[in-house]
Amino acid sequence: MKRRPIMAGNWKMNMLVSEAEALVKGLKSGLDGAEEVDVVVAPPFPSLYSVGKALSGSSIALAGQNLHWEVSGAYTGEVSATMLLDVGCKYVIIGHSERRQFFGENDETVNRRVKAALSAGLDPIVCVGEVLEERKSGRTWEVVGRQTREGLEGISKGDAERLVLAYEPVWAIGTGETATPEQVQEVHAKIRGLIGELYDEGIAQGMRIQYGGSVKPDNVRGLMDQPDVDGALVGGASLKVESFLGIVKF
Ligand code: 13P
Repeated sequence: MKRRPIMAGNWKMNMLVSEAEALVKGLKSGLDGAEEVDVVVAPPFPSLYSVGKALSGSSIALAGQNLHWEVSGAYTGEVSATMLLDVGCKYVIIGHSERRQFFGENDETVNRRVKAALSAGLDPIVCVGEVLEERKSGRTWEVVGRQTREGLEGISKGDAERLVLAYEPVWAIGTGETATPEQVQEVHAKIRGLIGELYDEGIAQGMRIQYGGSVKPDNVRGLMDQPDVDGALVGGASLKVESFLGIVKF
């Protein structure tokens, strides 16, 4: 069974408000023919509000790139689930490897964020993935399995149905070195197997698992042909109308 594909653009720390508006305007007008795909954009916080407005009336969904687990309070520099919902977000990316590498994110804080997102009504896109050294030493599944298990700790079956997972091998992010479709399929199948163990076969078969790491219009097809690849989480190639649409319309 193939699930409805979900293509998300993670803009990371790029795009001023004016650039963001121009980008979504281009995406909106070029989206015809992509009705079979869920399309998501994740701008940086300062442009969420205006991008949300620019997206109104389109099928493109808005996502935050992170959130804090508290609802409000004295947490300087943080953003809550309620705030993301307030500006029109449907999704939130959680546990991206750049958060894990540079900002001290770990499986426990990922889990807290996932719970906060779910209880507020945001659908989490939970990222997992090994670094190069872990792959080279044969520890890929040890790491990805742990990140998945601990990230989803205590999440009920009903909530698990709202999750999207994103497998992003860190060595393939921003490097131009995409994992091969076979490497990706192998890990995705294991993640799906684990979801089946943690929940049940129905939830495992329904769960969408994206691949992320140097996805481009010319390599997306081979990835999407794999039985357990249900979409892409795109960095660099999501910053231009033409390349992101090329991916969305794979
Ligand atoms: P690139 O597509 O730039 O490799 O980034 C992938 C990514 O990290 C998406 O979240």
